Amino acid sequence: MPESYKKLLEGNQHWVEQMNELHPGLFDNLSKGQSPDFLWIGCSDSRVPANEITEALPGSIFVQRNIANQVLHTDTNLLSVVFYAVKVLKVKHIIVCGHYGCGGVQAAMSNNSYGFLDNWLVHIKDVYRLNKAELDGIDDEQQRFDRFVELNVQAQVDNLCMVSFIQEEWKNGEFPYVHGWAYQLGTGKVKDLRVTRNSAAHLEHVYHYMPPA
Ligand code: CO
Repeated sequence: MPESYKKLLEGNQHWVEQMNELHPGLFDNLSKGQSPDFLWIGCSDSRVPANEITEALPGSIFVQRNIANQVLHTDTNLLSVVFYAVKVLKVKHIIVCGHYGCGGVQAAMSNNSYGFLDNWLVHIKDVYRLNKAELDGIDDEQQRFDRFVELNVQAQVDNLCMVSFIQEEWKNGEFPYVHGWAYQLGTGKVKDLRVTRNSAAHLEHVYHYMPPA
């Protein structure tokens, strides 16, 4: 077996020893169940691991990741994760975490074809179209890319606000809060984009759900 593969398994052994030393009883507690406060929707990018960059222990964050942290209403995998997190685990916060330098966002900005992936990226192109005036107004390509990353996160926050079973939760209380973050690969730092929502009031009226009359 290649060295890199063996290193993962050895890493696990070392990690267990470290955890038992630093957090005695953690594994015993976790074996009884989970009640995370957070749902993380992030990019699959290997450089943006939810728990590591937030210094969160196992048991704290329910996680879903895909290319360019998309929230698509036809993605039954993602929606099942969100449903379980919101309805059963009762998470208090949903964090959509994008990252500057995101390859998926960059690909969507370009006119290159990536085969099958184009069908995934087309949704990010939609975000460009909806923000065309602002993005086309940014001359510097790097700045435009950075802003597109942020607008993509914001669009996914809005997509979560359009989910009827999340709106249902908001009728019963203040949770979950939906937040948008952007992570900087070069510094390891997270920027809170200040697009937090716990209501659908900012959305077009057509997206507001209520029981049929
Ligand atoms: Co990415």
